[in-house]
Amino acid sequence: MKKSPYDTVLVLDFGAQYSQLIARRVREAGVYSTIVPYTTSAEEIRKLSPVGIIFSGGPCSVGDAASPRPDMAIFSLGIPILGICYGLQVLSTCLGGHVDCPEKKEYGFANLDIVDRTSALLKGVPDNSQIWMSHGDSVDSLPEGFRRTASTPNCPYTVVENDEKKIYGVQFHPEVVHSKDGFTMIKNFVLDICRASAGWNMGSFIEDEIKRIREKVGDRQVLCGLSGGVDSSVAAVLIHKAIGDQLVCVFVNNGLLRKNEAQNVLDLFGRHFKMRLQYADAEEAFLTALKGVSEPESKRKIIGKLFVDTFYNEARKCGDISFLAQGTLYPDVIESRSPSGGPSATIKSHHNVGGLPEDLKWELLEPLKDLFKDEVRALGRELGLSDELIDRQPFPGPGLGVRCIGEITKERLDTLREVDAIFIEEIRKAGLYGEIWQALADLLPVKSVGVQGDGRTYREVCTLRAVTSEDAMTADWYRLPYDVMQKCASRICNEVSGVNRVLYDITSKPPATIEWE
Ligand code: XMP
Repeated sequence: MKKSPYDTVLVLDFGAQYSQLIARRVREAGVYSTIVPYTTSAEEIRKLSPVGIIFSGGPCSVGDAASPRPDMAIFSLGIPILGICYGLQVLSTCLGGHVDCPEKKEYGFANLDIVDRTSALLKGVPDNSQIWMSHGDSVDSLPEGFRRTASTPNCPYTVVENDEKKIYGVQFHPEVVHSKDGFTMIKNFVLDICRASAGWNMGSFIEDEIKRIREKVGDRQVLCGLSGGVDSSVAAVLIHKAIGDQLVCVFVNNGLLRKNEAQNVLDLFGRHFKMRLQYADAEEAFLTALKGVSEPESKRKIIGKLFVDTFYNEARKCGDISFLAQGTLYPDVIESRSPSGGPSATIKSHHNVGGLPEDLKWELLEPLKDLFKDEVRALGRELGLSDELIDRQPFPGPGLGVRCIGEITKERLDTLREVDAIFIEEIRKAGLYGEIWQALADLLPVKSVGVQGDGRTYREVCTLRAVTSEDAMTADWYRLPYDVMQKCASRICNEVSGVNRVLYDITSKPPATIEWE
């Protein structure tokens, strides 16, 4: 890992579910933050010269012999440290304090009783401030040189500090929104105690990243696969700003896109941003390959393989390419990190580009790999991308291929495109688009009888699905207001000739998935 040009606060990760959130909060305070494994040595940390270190929480108990411990030399670096939950317990143990497993465990809300108002960490925090606790163990005897500055009825040492050594600890989670003044405490730590300069914002990131891209790329050429999604769009616009026509974008129309989507991508990137755009209209090839196929896994395989073939065929037409740009984000990097530490970014799998063919010896260019999704959105706005694109709901790589259930034909896809467009339009009109993780329509391989005007019809059935979710791993069905449902059903049956019946999917994930396939 390289030293960052910004004042940096390191999050030493003890396996907490909230490590990413801690780093995000620090960045929201305008200070760059990055996560490193707890095994990182003091020597490595010294080389990174952070202005502060935060020990994250973690699932272990310091009472276990095998519980994770930091390199003891970290405490002698003279860098301010804040321990959160397990982070507090481990630093207390390391420095000679004691941690107990009390009978009374605290989960959920508690109120902070501030016992020493001189605390730099608690500046501006009112008494009784609500905090979020989630712990079994707690410190029952402090290391030498420490004092307590706040407590709760069940936890005497809720906030402790050693001002001289600038080592602090909190038993609760200041990074979660349920801790009402948690962000104030994080700001106190990074801005006042660590004296970090708040130089991290999207404007400075763009300037630095442009310099970095120019230095790395020189006069060589970069290829970027555009999907129309947020990450690849932002990456392409940023790289284009840095190297102009040395960037060439490939956009594959697989015939499984939403209504007007191909045209929108061509207009935005070709006409508006004036990028070199290699457009592959592969609709026919995809439809031919998918002819007669109904089984979901076979469809996916066909779409995935043909996409890769088409993408690389286009790429080969683009001349001498040295780099492949990817919209890899920081969470992808953290998640793909090997257990022994050291980030190892792999090709972003859901771009469906797969591994590089042997004859293409490209380096990866990943200008977003230090950013969280929120920051990518802020960056996109700063680069002039519209809110509509930036706030777009996820759309799967195989597109309508996983939503046209049964055999995929041009006619059925066109029907589905119309249904989908009406559904999304009505959700936007109702002002609900931003509340919903994903809204999607599927066309079922089922016909039913209906009556329209004077005649009976025998047409296809479509389903509408809207879900809320944090990360797509689990999802709940969205309680779409009846009047919006009614408007959608009535418009779809009136305006889309192939459909006479509309269903709303009220299954959560699990047991269902978000896509029907
Ligand atoms: P499921 O259907 O498994 O989907 O609940 C979870 C999330 O993943 C998206 N999805 C995909 N995204 N390529 C993608 O880029 C794919 O092949 C793919 N399959 C599912 C889905 O839309 C949802 O957001």
